[in-house]
Amino acid sequence: MIILIFQVINHGISQTVMDRAVEVASDFFKLPSETKQEFASDDIRRPVRYGTSSKDGTRPSRAFLKHYAHPLSEWMKYWPEKPPTYREDMGKISAEVRRVALQLMEAILEGLGLGKDYQHEEFERGLQLLQVNCYPKEPESESAIGLAPHSDHGFLTILLASCPGLEVLDRSSDTWRVVQQPRHALHVHVRDYMEVLSNGRVKTVVHRAVLNPGEARISMASIHSFAMHEKVSVAKKLVDEQDPEKYKESSFSDFLDYLMSNADKKRMSFLESLRI
Ligand code: OGA
Ligand code: NI
Repeated sequence: MIILIFQVINHGISQTVMDRAVEVASDFFKLPSETKQEFASDDIRRPVRYGTSSKDGTRPSRAFLKHYAHPLSEWMKYWPEKPPTYREDMGKISAEVRRVALQLMEAILEGLGLGKDYQHEEFERGLQLLQVNCYPKEPESESAIGLAPHSDHGFLTILLASCPGLEVLDRSSDTWRVVQQPRHALHVHVRDYMEVLSNGRVKTVVHRAVLNPGEARISMASIHSFAMHEKVSVAKKLVDEQDPEKYKESSFSDFLDYLMSNADKKRMSFLESLRI
C-alpha cells in the first residue's frame, strides 16, 4: 500500500503570488455578508458557490468559496469582482498550481509503472476546482474541528494555508498527525481517483481541519481531476488474476450526482460506492 502525502518547496511559484492569493481570499471573507451571500447556493453544479458549515447550527466553523479554475477563460467571468484584485490574484495562483499538479501527476504515474504520459490528454483537458476556506480562530478552552474527517474527490489536492490546522489520518496507528506547513511549501495529498486508477495500490488520504488557537486561518485546496464527463477507470496494466479490478469507472459528474442524491443519507462515501 502506498501513502502519498508530501510537501513541495522548489515549485517555482513566487512567494508574492502565494501571499497575494491568501490575502485576497482573506479579504473576500471580510466582505459584508450580503455580498458573499450573492454566491450562496445549494446547487453543487453552480460554477461559484459560497457557504458556511456549522456543527451546532449556530456558530459557523468554516466558510468556503468554491469555483472552477480551468480553463480560466471559461470560468473567471463567474468569479467574485470584489475584492477588485480577486480575479487577477486567484487566476495567477490557479494557473501556477495547475502547472505543478500536472508535473506531479506525471511523476506519480511514472512511479506506478504506467509511464508519465499515461492518459496525458485526459489530464491536460482535466478540470481544476478551487476550494477556498476560512476558519475562525479557535475559541478559548474549547478544541474544535473546522472540517470533519473526509477524503477528497479527484486525483490530487494541492493545499496552501496561512497557518497550521490540517491533520491527516495515519492508517497504521489510527491517529491524527498534524501537518506542519512551512511558509513556502505546498502540501500535496492524493484523492479518491488515485486509489481507483491505481487499483488500490495508492490509498486516498483521510484528513480534517482543526481550528488554530492563535489566529483565523485561510486555506486554498486546488483539486485536479478529469473533465466533467470523462470516465476514470482502473489502469488495465495494474489488473491481473491476483489483482482483479477493484473499482467501477465513474466521472466527476457521476460524483456530483451521487452527492445530490445522497445528500441526507451519507451512509457511504462515493469511493465506497465504487468498490466492486
Ligand atoms: C478541503 C480540505 C483542509 C484545510 O478543503 O477539502 O480538506 O486545511 N481542507 O482547509
Ligand atoms: Ni479535503
